[in-house]
Amino acid sequence: MKMKKLTALLLASLMAVSMAACGDTPASGDGTGSSDASGSSSESSSDASGSSEESGSDASDSSEESGTGASDGSEESGTDAADGSEETSGSDGSSDASGQAEGFTTAVEGKLTMATNAAFPPYEYVEGGQVAGIDAEIADAIADKLGLELQIDDMEFDSITEALKGGKADIGLAGMTITPDRQEEVDFTVSYTTGVQVIIVTEDSDITSADDLLAEGANHTVGVQRNTTGDIYTTKDIEDAGLGTIDRYSKGAEAVQALKTGKVDCVVIDNEPAKAFVAEVEGLKILDTEYITEEYAAAMSKDNPALYEAVNNALMELIADGTVQSIIDKYITAE
Ligand code: ARG
Repeated sequence: MKMKKLTALLLASLMAVSMAACGDTPASGDGTGSSDASGSSSESSSDASGSSEESGSDASDSSEESGTGASDGSEESGTDAADGSEETSGSDGSSDASGQAEGFTTAVEGKLTMATNAAFPPYEYVEGGQVAGIDAEIADAIADKLGLELQIDDMEFDSITEALKGGKADIGLAGMTITPDRQEEVDFTVSYTTGVQVIIVTEDSDITSADDLLAEGANHTVGVQRNTTGDIYTTKDIEDAGLGTIDRYSKGAEAVQALKTGKVDCVVIDNEPAKAFVAEVEGLKILDTEYITEEYAAAMSKDNPALYEAVNNALMELIADGTVQSIIDKYITAE
């Protein structure tokens, strides 16, 4: 239920962006020119100009599941039927590992294994050889509730869903946005916070808004972290539309370095990491216009419903009792 609502929300925003992209370009609008056009672009919706189909964002190179018929795609479309493996109690398990009493199994007995990409401050980053950050703390609180010990596996962002599907990790927490395509691969918990895709430019850049990237005749090189939503949206809206090129990096910070050295004209990335990166590199700024707002959630395998249930319940409790908010507040100061 909840999921469906989120999906709908996300689809709506995606459509708003596609419309902005393919519909009449913002040549006129109200403010036009320079001034950082208060938010406009992504929020619009409802102006039905383009309509030109544009369903399932073809996620760059992944290619697994091409046809995702966006709209109708109720959550459970393409499950991959693995074989059985629904065993609840710990067959081979000797001890009484926590969790088994509650009917779920984990990748490693007694542990909650979290897959992440710790290059995304303040959600996850490496500090003193350890993964720290909002997601790490939330996962720790979830593990606590389930009587499990948290273990964090740092990997490439685009390896996270595979780790979950292969049963190597229990939970993917990586500032990961709920998207319809990803929902074909994994189940998402309730959302624990929102993120916003923003645009980083050099201080003297002539790019002043998202509209500049989408305008007819535009030809920019955009840096993104590979397979993130920044990549997915810009690939569709800019590269596929013939309005520029996308340069994909393994880490957001590398894309930001490329901006600094002039290899790309801007970087599209989530707002909080953007702030952290810009604070460390001189001469860069974040544009006021937002590209799109999205929901972050934990991703989990579709093959372990008992664990999903336990984690999702724990997370809902942690949201309800204010724990999640207080963790976020430790890292992000309200503006
Ligand atoms: N929110 C974006 C997405 O889901 C970016 C997440 C990147 N996270 C990371 N840990 N590198 O695609």
